[in-house]
Amino acid sequence: MTLPIRPDLAGLEPYGAPQLEVAARLNVNENPYSPPNGVVDAIAAAVHKAAEGLNRYPDRDFLGLRQDLADYLRTESHVDFLEARHIWAANGSNEVMLHLHQAFGGPGRKVMSFAPTYSMYPEYARDTITDFVTLPRREDFTLDIEAATAAIREAQPVMVIVASPNNPTGTALPLSQVEALLAAADDVPGGCIVVVDEAYAEFRRRGVPSAATLIPEHPHLAVSRTMSKAFALAGGRVGYLAAHEAIIDALRVVRLPYHLSAVTQATARAALAHHRELQAQVDEIRAERDETVAWLRAQGFTVADTDANFALFGPFEDRERVFEGLLERGVLIRVTGPEGWLRVSIGTPQEMALFRSALLEVTA
Ligand SMILES: Cc1ncc(COP(=O)(O)O)c(C=O)c1O
Repeated sequence: MTLPIRPDLAGLEPYGAPQLEVAARLNVNENPYSPPNGVVDAIAAAVHKAAEGLNRYPDRDFLGLRQDLADYLRTESHVDFLEARHIWAANGSNEVMLHLHQAFGGPGRKVMSFAPTYSMYPEYARDTITDFVTLPRREDFTLDIEAATAAIREAQPVMVIVASPNNPTGTALPLSQVEALLAAADDVPGGCIVVVDEAYAEFRRRGVPSAATLIPEHPHLAVSRTMSKAFALAGGRVGYLAAHEAIIDALRVVRLPYHLSAVTQATARAALAHHRELQAQVDEIRAERDETVAWLRAQGFTVADTDANFALFGPFEDRERVFEGLLERGVLIRVTGPEGWLRVSIGTPQEMALFRSALLEVTA
């Protein structure tokens, strides 16, 4: 039988990194710490209550959750402006991004990003039949902002996506560069929105501000966040976005009805009510990251500066061999980024000790 699959999808493999039971799972930038018992109990109680009403569809506009997210972001990023109507959420920031593409992308439209970057970006574009173009980052993975702004004015994309901190490099974008991208986007005749993907924002080093502080002045800026990383809630699937109301209204048009289940909403709200406990280990992860970077550099590796919960390091003549060698020793990392580089997520001190000893053996 011939399946009428879209020609551009024929033969493609689904996206995804290996999910293996090994001693150190350091390949998808998860938070290595389970939610503390008290928070597990609070989530279980909230889900229990939600279960009593599962015969009904959930709150389609999830206003309670949006209010809680606005309250969190107002405090975390010092943005008084934000209210529930400036917040969107979906099943992971992956789905938030897909909504952005459904609303603003489409045939004949172009999205721009800066490589190397998160490998899902081309997939959102592909799935919505949107053109995806990238500009290379500089050798140290920072943006060449003159080239970036010139390319925006020239190519006239509908959307510019920049991850900050960037995955897989960890590079954070200075606010002056976000402002420069916004100014270039302002010059695109048909309109262009700038999406700053701050999935790893809570891990940024002190003094690195969030692009959310620029939202009040910029109606064409959207800042995407997730509860998957700092909140230790990857399994809950909750991502969110802050922007002016007109952007949120566009996303409301393309979402499926009731896309956020009552269980998801209850889980996310209970987690937000306990965000301090859930994020208690963020400082530890940051410290472990900085120690890991220092150790790798002391061994002679090159490591990209990182504001995230992972580090990109290299160069390796045969990175697959190093990856396999680590895996044989129970350490799962990620082959990603430019040729020769590897990415390791920051785990617990025990996991990182295992990573260090395994790496020394493999590269001896
Ligand atoms: C830069 C970036 N954005 C978005 C995501 C998606 O996260 P989620 O869908 O779990 O919110 C990830 C996940 O690794 C990421 O690295």
